[in-house]
Amino acid sequence: MSSSARLDGRVAILTGGAKGIGRHYARRLAAEGSRLMIADVADGRELAEEIARRHGANSVASAVTDVSDEGAVQALVAKTMERFGKIDILVNNAALFAPLQEQKVTEIDVGLWDKVMSINIRGVFLMTKHVAPHMIAQKYGKIVNISSGTVARGIPNFAHYVTSKGAVTAFTRAVSRELGEYNICVNNLAPGFTLSDSVINDNPQHLAHSQAPSLVRRALKRDEYPQDLLGALVFLASADSDFVTGQTIAVDGGATNN
Ligand SMILES: NC(=O)c1ccc[n+]([C@@H]2O[C@H](COP(=O)([O-])OP(=O)(O)OC[C@H]3O[C@@H](n4cnc5c(N)ncnc54)[C@H](O)[C@@H]3O)[C@@H](O)[C@H]2O)c1
Repeated sequence: MSSSARLDGRVAILTGGAKGIGRHYARRLAAEGSRLMIADVADGRELAEEIARRHGANSVASAVTDVSDEGAVQALVAKTMERFGKIDILVNNAALFAPLQEQKVTEIDVGLWDKVMSINIRGVFLMTKHVAPHMIAQKYGKIVNISSGTVARGIPNFAHYVTSKGAVTAFTRAVSRELGEYNICVNNLAPGFTLSDSVINDNPQHLAHSQAPSLVRRALKRDEYPQDLLGALVFLASADSDFVTGQTIAVDGGATNN
């Protein structure tokens, strides 16, 4: 850990940290000095072991957690408090995203619609509901909700996903007004179409349909990678953004202008 680490002494919970973009968030949060709980339905043990080798055994833990399940979220928060003693940063990154296939609104199964909502927005609500009391008690906290550039653009054939991320955006704005008095910042980070491992490996159709049009929309004419998101993540998680709340930062090469 360098002496200029911007999250030195902080404790973070990162949901959806075991795969895709989340793995990159996990490595960077740890590299900036934060102790870290990786929570994901996928097993994050291997990544946690990698981070522990680099930053020490007390720097990281992982817990298999379904963010849509209130009991599981409560257990995760209790485990984090027990292990690290506080929670300063919550990154709500878990979502049902990479496996989703393009579907017209007239064809989306209601069970799938509900599943997307339960993970992508109920999960963000439940994590906030159970983490915020610990931030309120210490009168400091950073909540970073991962939204999406699709909210501003309203892309077709992903109505469930786009709606869920629109709800995340609205939730962020509303909750920033409630938690501001406790010195808690709540912001959205909105990635553009990002070539995460999950997107590349799990969804060739989405990749084929979205990669080229994404380039056309951007001011900066290149593909987006998880690494492109890390600077904004650290900004929103660190003291550098202590007077920024209720905002959406789009990191998408200039595809949207919020
Ligand atoms: N890749 C992109 O183009 C892109 C663009 C905009 C926004 N995003 C958002 O960024 C985030 C990461 O995307 P990604 O590309 O890494 O895709 P991804 O689908 O791999 O990421 C989702 C992560 O959440 C986990 N997860 C799924 N259901 C869960 C549950 N019920 N409880 C806990 N964890 C659960 C998955 O295991 C995975 O680690 C998501 O919120 C996604 O919506 C991605």
